[in-house]
Amino acid sequence: MISVTKVTPGDFKGDLIAYFVRQKEKGAPVCSDDLVQQRIDRAYKVGAFKGKMEETLLIYPEKKYDGLQAGRLLIVGLGKDDLDRESFRKAGGIVSQKALEMKAESIYAVIPGDLDFPENEMAECLSEGLLLGSYTFTKYKSSNGDDDTSEVKSIKMYTSKQISAARKGVTLGAAAAEGTRIARDMAHEPGNVWTPSKFAEFGKELGKKKKCTCKVLNKAQMQKLKMGGILGVSKGSHEPPAMVVIHYRSGKKVPTLMLVGKGLTFDSGGISLKPGEGMADMKYDMCGGAAVIAAMKVIVEEQPDNVDVIAIVPASENLPGGSALKPGDIISPYGGKTVEVLNTDAEGRLILADALAYGVDTYKPDAVVDVATLTGAVIIGLGHHRTGLLANNDELAEKILKAGDRTGELLWRLPLGKEYTEQIKSKIADIKNIGGKPAGTITAAAFLQEFVGDTPWAHLDIAGTAWDYTEKSYVPKGPSGIAARTLVELVRSWQ
Ligand code: BES
Ligand code: MN
Ligand code: ZN
Repeated sequence: MISVTKVTPGDFKGDLIAYFVRQKEKGAPVCSDDLVQQRIDRAYKVGAFKGKMEETLLIYPEKKYDGLQAGRLLIVGLGKDDLDRESFRKAGGIVSQKALEMKAESIYAVIPGDLDFPENEMAECLSEGLLLGSYTFTKYKSSNGDDDTSEVKSIKMYTSKQISAARKGVTLGAAAAEGTRIARDMAHEPGNVWTPSKFAEFGKELGKKKKCTCKVLNKAQMQKLKMGGILGVSKGSHEPPAMVVIHYRSGKKVPTLMLVGKGLTFDSGGISLKPGEGMADMKYDMCGGAAVIAAMKVIVEEQPDNVDVIAIVPASENLPGGSALKPGDIISPYGGKTVEVLNTDAEGRLILADALAYGVDTYKPDAVVDVATLTGAVIIGLGHHRTGLLANNDELAEKILKAGDRTGELLWRLPLGKEYTEQIKSKIADIKNIGGKPAGTITAAAFLQEFVGDTPWAHLDIAGTAWDYTEKSYVPKGPSGIAARTLVELVRSWQ
């Protein structure tokens, strides 16, 4: 769908050609194409276009004046502030938004040749923006004649400079964006379609790829392994739980990274039932699992040789059926610790406890990263703009913060410590699954911490960012697919 082309701008005959230009302190933005420049000059002169960040100028070009055969010419401003990777994602996203609006199916984007910015990174981030901004989910819309949907079908990138650098960048950007798009697709699926078995099916497909295996633990196997967390949470539902374990082995002597994602395919709260208003959003409670398994697909396709990767997705529903967990019940996740369940709506940490303890015990990874829509409290703390990061290891935390900066998926670290762990001590069991109102995001992480031992571990609470995320041109409304690109970046940059 996206590729670098040798076809020159003048020979492109598709729907939309896009140029990106910098705003100047004084005067019109400068474009590498002389004829496009004349259009910009005229628009600038009447105050119609300055080149501000995300500002656009649309022209219906004519071959004899503009030297272009494309249906539309879109000039996109890059502003005058310092450029970073996010600037190019945003600019790419704007082009896609406009293309969808105008029902343009084929896009041709010209990588600016006059900027002091690495060619490969411009190509990478522009392609991410283009692919993520043109994402739509129309599977459940029956076509009804008055066609109100549109789709971007082809994206071509052009450079007048280093074509091989551009190709490398587009390959990286396209793979990462594909991971995000897959995570968004999974999240969009309703709870009656995207059940725990769907995570299992997806995992088994991945298991067929080179250097990759997948096993899915079913209920009987969970019972043997004494996984009281996921067994407890799934008890109220007829939908069988699944623990999906995917293993990528590079074949080299390298460290092992373990990724764990909360795959709660619908969270009603259980007996501690949630209010009806907004409950439908709880089909998104599997976004951590989606990010992990979608990232794993990208990782397995890239076949890295710097790290081995294990992905675990504990998948379950949380429903208030006749045999559901009750407040006050005591259960025991993998490893034997006892947990007093005081609120059945704090279920994510229970299924993650099994996945973390089992994974650490079985695979002895060098580092663990889990991703979960774990607490409403993180939205109070950080809003919808940053993912909460908690870690027992500074070096790992730094790596993840850096990966988040590079992908534009920003995080903010919160503390852990014994005062918080104190809040989850139980009177009659080892620990309880809620720590009271204060510091809800931290006590949830403190609970998880109990199940990773001394292994370097980081937890990403994406409850605020998995949907209703900060408005961005390349993040349409709905599930954002957050964290998939950050995990991919983490693996790419692992050393
Ligand atoms: N899945 C929710 C967390 C959540 C809330 C995600 C809102 C996205 C938006 C989680 O299982 C949950 O219900 N957490 C409770 C914990 C509480 C009972 C200690 C919460 O945050 O209210
Ligand atoms: Mn819950
Ligand atoms: Zn939940």
